[in-house]
Amino acid sequence: MPVFKSRIKLALTQRKEQGLNRSMNVVFAGNQSILEHEGKRYINFSSNDYLGLANDQALVRAWQQGLSVYGSGSGASPMVTGFSAAHSNLEAALTEWLGYERAILFGSGFSANQALLFTLLEKSDVLIQDRLNHASLMEAGALSSAKMKRFKHNDIEHLKSLINREDNHLVVTEGVFSMDGDCSPLKDIEAITRANHAWLAVDDAHGIGVLGESGGGSCELSQVKPELLVITFGKAFGMSGAAILCDQATGDYLTQFAKHHVYSTAMPPAQAYALTHAVSIVQEQSWRREKLAELSEVYRDSLKDLDGFVETQTSIKPFVLGGSELALRVASDCRQNGIWVTAIRPPTVPKGTSRLRITLTANQTNEHVKTLSMALKQALGAQ
Ligand SMILES: Cc1ncc(COP(=O)(O)O)c(C=O)c1O
Repeated sequence: MPVFKSRIKLALTQRKEQGLNRSMNVVFAGNQSILEHEGKRYINFSSNDYLGLANDQALVRAWQQGLSVYGSGSGASPMVTGFSAAHSNLEAALTEWLGYERAILFGSGFSANQALLFTLLEKSDVLIQDRLNHASLMEAGALSSAKMKRFKHNDIEHLKSLINREDNHLVVTEGVFSMDGDCSPLKDIEAITRANHAWLAVDDAHGIGVLGESGGGSCELSQVKPELLVITFGKAFGMSGAAILCDQATGDYLTQFAKHHVYSTAMPPAQAYALTHAVSIVQEQSWRREKLAELSEVYRDSLKDLDGFVETQTSIKPFVLGGSELALRVASDCRQNGIWVTAIRPPTVPKGTSRLRITLTANQTNEHVKTLSMALKQALGAQ
């Protein structure tokens, strides 16, 4: 008798009992500053569309243009017939902008991270990751044949104590941490990896587009060049997909051996065409980064005196409340007042650090942020 049914039932019951159950909401305009749900309108503080591009009309037109030239789908994996001029142009735009020899495209950041670790690591290697790295990296590290060590979040001394020159190390960190919005000390991490003849991989899903003069992300801001840079297009680029940037030989290696690349349908060429436009928009429209800086100031000025406020340099503003129930209650009170914020609970964040994950996007207004601040104060009984 298969045990799947009873196992599934038990897991679901436990999740509910722990107050950790999550649900999907049918939302309209979830990629805009005002979203609609069940006939009500809410100011959206939950999307990762940091630069406000997910509904940008120029980008929509670019995608439509791409569709009329290339059709709907790529038709095959990249090594068969799925690789087009649109893909090649996107890769060229990325390598030129970010200063690498190769860019390898993937359908998602999750698959890019998994492809990277599964393909690069062998049994004799040691993988060292920041303990708050994304689930895609943690899972791939745990399942890879390499030995995995985790260093305390952003703790340089701990990293130093784990690394040596004898073993073949790959150090992996995020540029901006998705649940905390803080930045990795990349300059120090790069120095330690170099001193130990290790390689560094940076997943900059939340930094690319947002940080750095040209939007080149955490690495541009910190002036570091990891051997491997993962960027994703589902956040600041307002679309989806991902790329790994690396040198020529590593690119050739990933192209040959990364199963997520070889055995997966290439992204639609129209998407690659639109993403090439997004690469230009991200670099050229610096007003979007300036708007984020302005919103960040309004956010800090209105909320800095509240318990739970955390200052960050990025668009991610965690408001840490502690218990899951409190986080859910505050999110629900905010929703009553027309603010859409998401409560993030374990296992996504460590126990006792449940929070609202508030995100700023360039299409919000200062008034939106002030309205959020009033709703939050009311929910916390602070006014
Ligand atoms: C740090 C980080 N890396 C990778 C991913 C996965 O990217 P994608 O959504 O493109 O699969 C995410 C997504 O949330 C992320 O936060």
